[in-house]
Amino acid sequence: MRIAMIGTGYVGLVSGACFADFGHDVCCIDKDEKKIAALHDGRMPIWEPGLEALVKSNVERGRLDFTTDLNKGVEGAEAVFIAVGTPARRGDGHADLTYVFAAIRELAKALTRPAVIVTKSTVPVGTGDKIAEILAEEGAPEGSSVASNPEFLREGAAIADFKHPDRIVVGAEDEHAREVLREIYRPLFLNKAPILFTGRRTAELTKYAANAFLAVKISFINEIADLCEAVGADVQEVARGIGLDNRIGPKFLHPGPGYGGSCFPKDTLALLQTAKEAGIEQRIVSTVVDVNEKRKASMAARVARALGGSVDGKRIGVLGLAFKPNTDDMRDAPSIPLVNSLIEDGASVTAFDPAAMEHAKPLFPGMESAANAMAVADGADALVIVTEWDEFRALDLGKLAERMKGRVLVDLRNVYERDEAERAGLAYYGIGRPA
Ligand SMILES: NC(=O)c1ccc[n+]([C@@H]2O[C@H](COP(=O)([O-])OP(=O)(O)OC[C@H]3O[C@@H](n4cnc5c(N)ncnc54)[C@H](O)[C@@H]3O)[C@@H](O)[C@H]2O)c1
Repeated sequence: MRIAMIGTGYVGLVSGACFADFGHDVCCIDKDEKKIAALHDGRMPIWEPGLEALVKSNVERGRLDFTTDLNKGVEGAEAVFIAVGTPARRGDGHADLTYVFAAIRELAKALTRPAVIVTKSTVPVGTGDKIAEILAEEGAPEGSSVASNPEFLREGAAIADFKHPDRIVVGAEDEHAREVLREIYRPLFLNKAPILFTGRRTAELTKYAANAFLAVKISFINEIADLCEAVGADVQEVARGIGLDNRIGPKFLHPGPGYGGSCFPKDTLALLQTAKEAGIEQRIVSTVVDVNEKRKASMAARVARALGGSVDGKRIGVLGLAFKPNTDDMRDAPSIPLVNSLIEDGASVTAFDPAAMEHAKPLFPGMESAANAMAVADGADALVIVTEWDEFRALDLGKLAERMKGRVLVDLRNVYERDEAERAGLAYYGIGRPA
């Protein structure tokens, strides 16, 4: 089937490459000329494991192409996916639909035959209805329909998630749209990935409810971690003790510096806006947003406590800046308030991230960067693990300690055990672990 993908970011590029790999004929469109030029040169605009090889093989087989020209990109497409950004609108946190609606207006004029228009972008309930109105207003071909197909992939494991999803959610109001999406996802359907067909509004809300629930789980364990610290219990063991209960499950029970990234912060805010407009209270999600903001803002004080109360004049090494491992995405990363507060409070900060340095540098004007984890330790009073990249999991702590001036390890991801850090001569400060 011929598919067009409008928006070639984390979601659009991964989805486009995976659809091509299923055997569909895909054109990925983006306004960003640099991005499309890079892709034409075989360079990936994002850091995602396995993506380069997947893109290369499908380009070579002639199933995947890239363009900045929307008219050309959607020519003959039976399905057009919308995967443009929907960031939080400044001020009220509502999902900013400017990019979605601009893309739809352009698309309506470009279509020469009816198509199924599918929103993969995360959009508030009712957006599909508005898209249908705009398409009609702009004179899109009769017989076009609008469906919602929210994306649940995780950056860092995006290809595996896309190809082996827990479920595929399709919200559609007509049988033709359902048929087209069934056909597109048939390879996964045959692998028994459940496809849930729902109404469009239900599919739109399902995405927000999923992210909000995961944010609740993370904030829950973060608060339990604080309680563990106060009463001398170990949150790692508590998390295991509850996670083995099938009703709870072990995932998203890792305490840390607060959730970040391109989805949870904006999607929880957008859900609250939807609820506000509907006149329905969402006290749990509202509290979680507040808990998470405070948590991120409190991490610098945690480092200061480990250094005896102040970071002024201290040299601090930071391991990991991306909001999670295996991505270069810095959007809403917990490292942002942490590093900026440390610098504001008088510390000098040197950091290393295996993939995100290029995106991170402009966000931290006063920060120095190092070439690797060992170099971060040089002369540091404290080391802070912010992102749990695999390459930080088996560091030679003894060697690291030798290169440091102070001997403090603040482990915001509980990558290490206290006794192994102490054997290496480091004072260890994990999250939610007994002193
Ligand atoms: N990143 C994730 O892990 C993830 C997961 C699930 C869902 N989502 C959702 O998917 C959507 C896209 O997210 P992303 O992280 O891929 O965003 P992104 O910022 O990486 O990519 C969006 C792309 O759309 C392009 N674009 C904007 N307007 C355009 C237009 N009119 N025509 C062509 N291209 C245009 C931009 O240049 C950009 O390259 C969002 O709604 C997000 O919430 C993201």
